Amino acid sequence: MVISSTLRPGPDGQAIIARDDQVMSTSMTPRYPFVMERGLGARVWDVDGNEYIDMAAGIAVTATGHCHPEVVQAVVDQAQKFLHIAGTDFYYDVQVQVAERLAQIAPFNDPARVFLCNSGAEAVEGSIKVARWHTKRQHVIAFFGAFHGRTMGALSLTASKVVQREGFFPFIPGVYHIPYNNPYRCMHGREEAQCRDHCICTNYLEDVVFKRIIPAHNVAAIIFEPIQGEGGYVVPDVRFVQQLRDICDKYGIMLIADEVQSGMGRTGKWWAMEHYGVEPDIVASAKGIASGMPLGAIIARENVMQWPPGAHGTTFGGNPVSCAAALKTIELIEREYMANTVEQGEFLMDALCEMQPRHPSMRHGRIDGKGLMVGVELVKDEQRTPAGALRNRVERIALDKGMLILGAGESTLRFCPPLMIERDTLQTGLEIFEDALTAAEQEAGLL
Ligand SMILES: Cc1ncc(COP(=O)(O)O)c(C=O)c1O
Repeated sequence: MVISSTLRPGPDGQAIIARDDQVMSTSMTPRYPFVMERGLGARVWDVDGNEYIDMAAGIAVTATGHCHPEVVQAVVDQAQKFLHIAGTDFYYDVQVQVAERLAQIAPFNDPARVFLCNSGAEAVEGSIKVARWHTKRQHVIAFFGAFHGRTMGALSLTASKVVQREGFFPFIPGVYHIPYNNPYRCMHGREEAQCRDHCICTNYLEDVVFKRIIPAHNVAAIIFEPIQGEGGYVVPDVRFVQQLRDICDKYGIMLIADEVQSGMGRTGKWWAMEHYGVEPDIVASAKGIASGMPLGAIIARENVMQWPPGAHGTTFGGNPVSCAAALKTIELIEREYMANTVEQGEFLMDALCEMQPRHPSMRHGRIDGKGLMVGVELVKDEQRTPAGALRNRVERIALDKGMLILGAGESTLRFCPPLMIERDTLQTGLEIFEDALTAAEQEAGLL
């Protein structure tokens, strides 16, 4: 791998960033100073010619890697036939094929129906709408730490960072947030050392929310991320997820799994829900579904998605080029990348756990995740005080050393590379991570 010593960003990158600063919306999250020129597999190049390992995959999106030749070919072939016709008003085969494939892999036994949209937030919006329609109820329960998107409906459910909500009140009425389950995991990452009241949130629902705030029979849906993504890659206790299902069954509430980040093979199964042995009623999907082409999906049990013509629609949703990319993506994940995710995910988890004792900031933090969705929490002490500034330094030093890695939550670094990542690339990425962490800990006087 070529790691040039060029300043990052270099002069060409800096020039683009300067122009971007003048014209792009000021709302973009404080951005990572990487200016992309091209990508291939799990590697990307900036406009100044520097090469990087991509441990971020465009926020867990490029499932088959950048520009997988078969995906590119599928896109080109479809683009030469037609780019758009509007799936709401017209029929076309590639949209039906994607719906058929998603219905086959849906994480429930019932037959499924599918609505194709453009993004994660739209999939969440539509999930809430279909739950309200089906139950004829209004209220929705969501969780602290959740990220469901930024359109007004999705943002009403998001409770990740206050900056995302400030200035946009009031939100849609009828949304209540409760604590998410966040068990502490042992330093070996996999076994649960101690579950901090795994049932606190579900008890809270029945003992407090349903008794004091809203009657359970007014609640349309509970929406949750089977692994919290932006909240810091938090894997809840299996009993928590099972109890959510029990509560939904008891009160006739729809369980919506927001699998926008955790779905489509990222955790080594099609859906993170499969790790808990629990079936949702509705699934929101996007991100990895089409290897980077914009596509989202609402997948619901057939009896749930029974709304009348005109109740929900979209101009661009289910775009034929995106659908062609999705079909190829699903085929590739099934053919080879699901197995690769399991194998490389185990290697990643083992390597991080092995690294843990060497680094003061890792020692008391969580290493959590499944498959290629793994978070490393950096903390200051046994009380797990978040080390956010240190995390940001690691992110930056890793960039300078030739690797893209993104943060999540207050002080977590997330490993969510393309699902096709090769062992040697992952190995090099881990070395860069440890070098960057060592340098950041030295700067902070921890080593
Ligand atoms: C779990 C989850 N839901 C929804 C969204 C929103 O997706 P989008 O940015 O495509 O609207 C995200 C984005 O990060 C997400 O992680």
